[in-house]
Amino acid sequence: MKQEIDTLLQETIERLATIDNAKDVDRLRIDVLGRKGTLSHLFKKLGESPDEERPVLGKILNETRVRLESAFEEAKSRTTSISAHLTALDISLPGRLPHLGHLHPITLVSMEIAEIFQRLGFEVVEGPDVELDYYNFEALNIPKDHPARDMQDTFYVTDNIVLRTHTSPIQVRVMEKQPPPVRIIAPGKAYRCDSDVTHTPMFHQVEGLMVDKDVSFGDLKGVLTVFVHQMFGADVDLRFRPSFFPFTEPSAEVDIQCVMCRGEGCRVCSETGWLEILGSGMVDPEVFKMVGYDPEEVSGYAFGMGIERIAMLKYGINDLRLFFDNDLRFLEQF
Ligand code: PHE
Repeated sequence: MKQEIDTLLQETIERLATIDNAKDVDRLRIDVLGRKGTLSHLFKKLGESPDEERPVLGKILNETRVRLESAFEEAKSRTTSISAHLTALDISLPGRLPHLGHLHPITLVSMEIAEIFQRLGFEVVEGPDVELDYYNFEALNIPKDHPARDMQDTFYVTDNIVLRTHTSPIQVRVMEKQPPPVRIIAPGKAYRCDSDVTHTPMFHQVEGLMVDKDVSFGDLKGVLTVFVHQMFGADVDLRFRPSFFPFTEPSAEVDIQCVMCRGEGCRVCSETGWLEILGSGMVDPEVFKMVGYDPEEVSGYAFGMGIERIAMLKYGINDLRLFFDNDLRFLEQF
């Protein structure tokens, strides 16, 4: 029996030395120290041994159990330690970069537009998406029967609350709050009840407003020329085309030379060589009166552009829907 006990201790220690994972350590522990394990079996045999040998054998068995337990303990901590896992680490392998998110192209272009105007001294401001009829229309000299107020275009929340249809109400909110001079740029979302290949019910605009003594249409032309050259390149031509907005007089739309054909004429520009990028004009005296500015004292210009459109022209994107699909293959290109 003494022999059997020695063998068990010897073999168990040898086997433990070859085991490198915690699971196998547990398995062997059950075989050796478990209720039906080898050691219990030897304890049972102790009862059958001759009376005179029993105390000595009992002592040896107890000592063996203590030694086995500590051997298992040690093996367990060895196989669960960090260094046990590190042996499987190949430090020559290239690392795996965590997947980083980034800004949406609309956000990027919006920031780029704002930065150009900030360098020209404009301050970035914001206004609410859910807007009073008063700020979205009335104060911008858009009378009750104007076609732009048609239910087809405007999302009404209640009779006098709308989802703003453009960023122009921000002009009014700013002028109402502060006396001239004003020089602001206001990016934000706009909403129109319109949805097809070239229109989405929610889109983005950037509004600009400058009011001071003696601000002229020439100033507007100068600022927008700098903007176009910084945004699209110094070699891109632009032109001012007479237009109409209820809140500016005179009004003009700005076209840039087609970015696809460089003015030659192609399908993108309907063979005209020009692409419209924004609406602008001199602030209408009626708007000044609404905010308490004296049109005899100050003058100003305003402009508003669609960010999706600017982004499409700048990056040669041919489908507006790409901005809203959230397809990572598209978004990750920016
Ligand atoms: N708010 C106009 C639009 O959405 C654009 C505009 C802004 C025109 C400011 C003139 C001055 O079409």
